[in-house]
Amino acid sequence: MNGAVVVAALETFETPLLAVAVPKQGKALPAALAALDEKAGGVIGRLFASGEFTGARDEAVVVHTNGAPAARIVLVGMGKSEDVTRASLRRAAAVAARRAKSLGTGALAFAVPKEFRGGASPADLAQVAIEGAEQGAWVFDELKSGANGNDKKPPVTALTVVVDGGEDGEARRALAVGAAIAAGHVLARRLQFLPPNRCTPAFLAETAEELGRTHGFAVTVLGKAAIEAEGMGALLAVNQGSATEPRFIVVEYKGAGDAAPVVLVGKGITFDTGGISIKPAASMEEMKYDMSGAAAVLGALEMVGRLRPKLNVVGVIPSTDNMPGGRAVRPSDVVKAHSGKTIEIVNTDAEGRLILADALSYVKRFKPAAVLDAATLTGACVIALGHTASAVMGNDDALVEEVRRAGERSGERVWPLPMYDEYKELNKSDIADVKNSGGRPAGTISAGWFLREFVEGYPWVHIDVAGTAYSGSDSPPMAKGPAGVPTRLFAEFVLARAG
Ligand code: BES
Ligand code: MN
Ligand code: ZN
Repeated sequence: MNGAVVVAALETFETPLLAVAVPKQGKALPAALAALDEKAGGVIGRLFASGEFTGARDEAVVVHTNGAPAARIVLVGMGKSEDVTRASLRRAAAVAARRAKSLGTGALAFAVPKEFRGGASPADLAQVAIEGAEQGAWVFDELKSGANGNDKKPPVTALTVVVDGGEDGEARRALAVGAAIAAGHVLARRLQFLPPNRCTPAFLAETAEELGRTHGFAVTVLGKAAIEAEGMGALLAVNQGSATEPRFIVVEYKGAGDAAPVVLVGKGITFDTGGISIKPAASMEEMKYDMSGAAAVLGALEMVGRLRPKLNVVGVIPSTDNMPGGRAVRPSDVVKAHSGKTIEIVNTDAEGRLILADALSYVKRFKPAAVLDAATLTGACVIALGHTASAVMGNDDALVEEVRRAGERSGERVWPLPMYDEYKELNKSDIADVKNSGGRPAGTISAGWFLREFVEGYPWVHIDVAGTAYSGSDSPPMAKGPAGVPTRLFAEFVLARAG
């Protein structure tokens, strides 16, 4: 999608669809819309007066104008004015873009008059407008053979953010940031959505290599033999039941000489059957999303490549599927991880923490300034926080807070869970250094503690996105399916660190 910032009065801007985001109102026409209403032949005033548009969140009413340069106007509700934030602006842009997509207008103009914007700056507006528009306009039809038919609506290809004079400089810079983040988000969602027979560990590696060629990253891909040579016994144990080879992917971006890097680690399970501890059939197809952490790492790197922040960033992805083949690892097997610790695998469905364990000890060599890992790690996380927030844990409270703030800015919220020492005990094994499941109570925290057994010598935060990475239902701002979480959180974290 092409993005642009234009300085114009709303009533003068020519477009097939002008979206105006509005907070909750009474029946009177707000002054900020008076000139537009007049040019449009009074249609806006009548929508307010009749109560057909109130500004409630996600409300979207499209009208053809009678005379304004904008052929159509869509009023989008943002809810209570005191609650208007970056998140509500992004959401309104997404709702508007979904409407543009269903109308097939191709182009979309988006405006939020100053009076309606709460504390958000023109820069906030421009950044989240393109993020939201890309989110709402998202389509995935590359695997539909009829996708080129005549009935296909043209995609939304252009977004113009309409602002007041004096706001445009700041807004233009921010639009470029938003566009880069959105491009990363789109990449992540595509990777997430691709089925596991296409999005294999090798495919994730090829995607990383392609990013490397485009943006000049150094990309290292370890195949099975190299993974064996590294001694990654936990990753290999998960891969044992599969006919598909694993990959261990490392992408390095240098934007700050020899400074300690931020390392992003993503769980890359391209499909999780559970292995011998097999999952029930119902909804098992959702386990194609078990590589969402990996997708977010690659998405964040796409942003990094476009914006080239002054920071070093390393992306690390351990990847395999989790299959129950004849050679599969058995519940009760003991394996040796990359760190040298031994793990009793009591449940082969707790595979994400196994592959991440090897990644977390591998990354020690980078002497990281911070390590963030993201994973669809536990069903317990969905029980704790639902689909609204991801869980965050770590060994450094300041870093947890930094990640929480990046979550707020990005609209991908995270909430901390405690790592009290008592929870560590849950992973005690009778036979090995540690076991890979602490049972059902505090399942998200014991998984976090398992990872922490392999973290040494760097500040670290773990983000469990099991409930947020994808959605089983459609919502006004987002189509059902991949949500790209936590790509935008990673992006905001990296950009804030780069200053
Ligand atoms: N990939 C799953 C977690 C998951 C569940 C993600 C639901 C998204 C939605 C993970 O590998 C898993 O199976 N975890 C087990 C761990 C248990 C065996 C200790 C779980 O949460 O049930
Ligand atoms: Mn599993
Ligand atoms: Zn899994």
